[in-house]
Amino acid sequence: MSVVLEAIEAKKRGGELAEDVVREVVAGYTTGSVPDYQMSALLMAVFIRGMNYGETLALTRAMAESGEAYSFPDSVDKHSTGGVGDKISLISLPIVAACGAPVAKLSGRGLGTTGGTIDKLESIPGFSVDLPEGRFRRQVEEVGLAIIEAGDLAPADKAIYALRDTTGTVDSLPLIGSSIVSKKAATGAGHLLYDVKRGSGAFMKTDEEARELAGLLVRLSESLGIRASAVITGMDTPLGSAVGNALEVRESAGFLRGDPVPEDLAAEARLVASKLLELKGDKDPARSVERALSSGAAHEKLERFVRAQGAPPGALENLPTSGTTREVRAPRGGYVARFAALNVGRAALALGAGRQKKTDKIDPAAGVELLAKPGDRVQRGDPVARLHGDREAGRAEGLILQALDIRDEPPEPAPAILDDL
Ligand code: URA
Repeated sequence: MSVVLEAIEAKKRGGELAEDVVREVVAGYTTGSVPDYQMSALLMAVFIRGMNYGETLALTRAMAESGEAYSFPDSVDKHSTGGVGDKISLISLPIVAACGAPVAKLSGRGLGTTGGTIDKLESIPGFSVDLPEGRFRRQVEEVGLAIIEAGDLAPADKAIYALRDTTGTVDSLPLIGSSIVSKKAATGAGHLLYDVKRGSGAFMKTDEEARELAGLLVRLSESLGIRASAVITGMDTPLGSAVGNALEVRESAGFLRGDPVPEDLAAEARLVASKLLELKGDKDPARSVERALSSGAAHEKLERFVRAQGAPPGALENLPTSGTTREVRAPRGGYVARFAALNVGRAALALGAGRQKKTDKIDPAAGVELLAKPGDRVQRGDPVARLHGDREAGRAEGLILQALDIRDEPPEPAPAILDDL
């Protein structure tokens, strides 16, 4: 019997897979000797029966070691499980770099309503997300911050994830945990913070699911020699005001320059930066973060980083803008109770800010600016959102109105930060 068939037989009865079996199956699938139909059967057995911690770690390790890997033991990195308007990397990483913690980050593009740091950075004129390895390393040493597109890291995860996506096996805790940590382990940072999103606009819908995933991510990382911690943050409403690539870069640079932003964004960016500095041994990280912000050092770091990756001076003040904008107005008066992240994300997607398929071309200037946040009082006819872009503006307006829930009574304030592990 082949190893993969043995693994299917064992797992369908709830048995345990040995580390060498996991490794052989992963290698076989990556090189093509294990066919899709057998891997699909195994993934479904794992989905139904689960995997214990040892099996999950073996899968993580096998996928992490399936392609090229980097090593930046002194560097910090963060990973968000994905959200709408999530620009925390663009804010927190210049802050920690300004505090002396080097950042070597490999990021991805957005897909669907989940934005990607690489698309956001590419909206900056002249910015290159593709640096040769030597230049990437030099920039981490000299500037303290470099972010490039993740290429062929953990190719086994890439192949398995594509199969999971078409076989109903994405939402399995051991498969999600091993998938995320395998990519982070291959990027090689020695200190990692996970930002696990919980809410209607996120993968994890409940506190319990988010806490379970956060615990698994930290445990797997530490087993692989990475110092790790996690925060659980809300994703019922988009973070901050801006949703869309250049719009989010503008909001992030504005925050670092001292412009006011919504409190959920400011609080989460400060927390993530503090947690990253704590992982590096900073004894008073909150104070370091405030100093980097108030002195202007974090904003200077952002400018230096974008220039180092090819943007001309002043690029952050010359971000692309859309020739077409329209305002969406409140259909009634009252208090904004909710601005549902998923439909705001879908509206940004309709305007051209994201891709439905990997091959779609995005409009860097497109997106949504929220002009009201939960708790705000609005009159009928007040502008509540501004749409940028012209692809499907009518549909986007409908989605914004579906996302918006206005009530007579003010809502209970929803905390942006739900847990801190
Ligand atoms: N993100 C990943 O990288 N992998 C998953 O399985 C789910 C989310």
